[in-house]
Amino acid sequence: MPTIESQGAAHSASAPTISPAAAINPNRALWEKGDFTRLAATMRESGDEVIDRLGVGPGMDVLDLGCGDGTTALPAARRGARVLGVDIASNLVAAGNARAAAAGLANLGFEQGDASRLDAITDDRFDLLVSMFGAMFAPRPLDTAREMVRVTRPGGRIVMGNWIPGDPTLIARVLQICAGYSPPPPEGFVSPVTWGKEELVRERFAAAGIAQDRITCERATYTFRHPGTPLEFLAIFRDYYGPTMNAFEAAAKAGRRDELEDELARLFAAENRAQGPGTEIPATYLRVTVLK
Ligand SMILES: C[S@@+](CC[C@H](N)C(=O)[O-])C[C@H]1O[C@@H](n2cnc3c(N)ncnc32)[C@H](O)[C@@H]1O
Repeated sequence: MPTIESQGAAHSASAPTISPAAAINPNRALWEKGDFTRLAATMRESGDEVIDRLGVGPGMDVLDLGCGDGTTALPAARRGARVLGVDIASNLVAAGNARAAAAGLANLGFEQGDASRLDAITDDRFDLLVSMFGAMFAPRPLDTAREMVRVTRPGGRIVMGNWIPGDPTLIARVLQICAGYSPPPPEGFVSPVTWGKEELVRERFAAAGIAQDRITCERATYTFRHPGTPLEFLAIFRDYYGPTMNAFEAAAKAGRRDELEDELARLFAAENRAQGPGTEIPATYLRVTVLK
């Protein structure tokens, strides 16, 4: 039986590096950097597909954790559920509320919060907790698993999408390449992509009181779509996506900026599957389903 990981133990695999200049909460500073909405715009169709297969409908209470500007929260609300989006980044909470208002969705609201400490949320509140590439980025994964279980009602579901360490497709490779150009993460930092390892996912939810036969892990595909070229799509990561922006800053300081850009450009070109104009890149993730 593997022992439960310590939250203080460092896992360096593919860690997006947090800027040393980041203020008190480096996790929040990382995601308030840049403008994730620019990348989220390339994820809308896949976000809708995720919600479609979950059977979301009227009468359901849904929490989208690490929701960004609502790529999965809006489709859930459009299907009639009462939806709360929670995110660490205040700019993304504001962007989500603006999108909800523009769409006339009174059943959808966004609030700032930390997935590893959902103090403002009562126990057993949600029928469905969805977290696509969101809660995986919170520090203290054991606390995060416990909080996700706590706020889900008995009989409810938790569905996570997590990038997989060592996977050869887009985002796992972007995070891995960026880690190679960044300073080592601080002592005790747990890499977000450890949430893409089935054995750790099982340990974390077991520690939160979930039986093994209530946990399912399977590989799934999420497709990014951008109307421009692969290089134009890469520019969004370079200019607006916190983890990649930090890597470019570190690479520039080390005189390796062009090297990083070339390596990423080769990856984006190789991964593009669009038959005509535009960019279409599928990425593999670990879909985790937990029944409480
Ligand atoms: C890759 S984005 C995904 C956003 C959204 N789920 C989507 O699919 O577009 C990661 C999100 O997790 C949020 N996040 C990171 N750490 C968090 C934490 N501790 N608590 C809540 N949200 C967090 C970020 O602010 C960001 O919006």
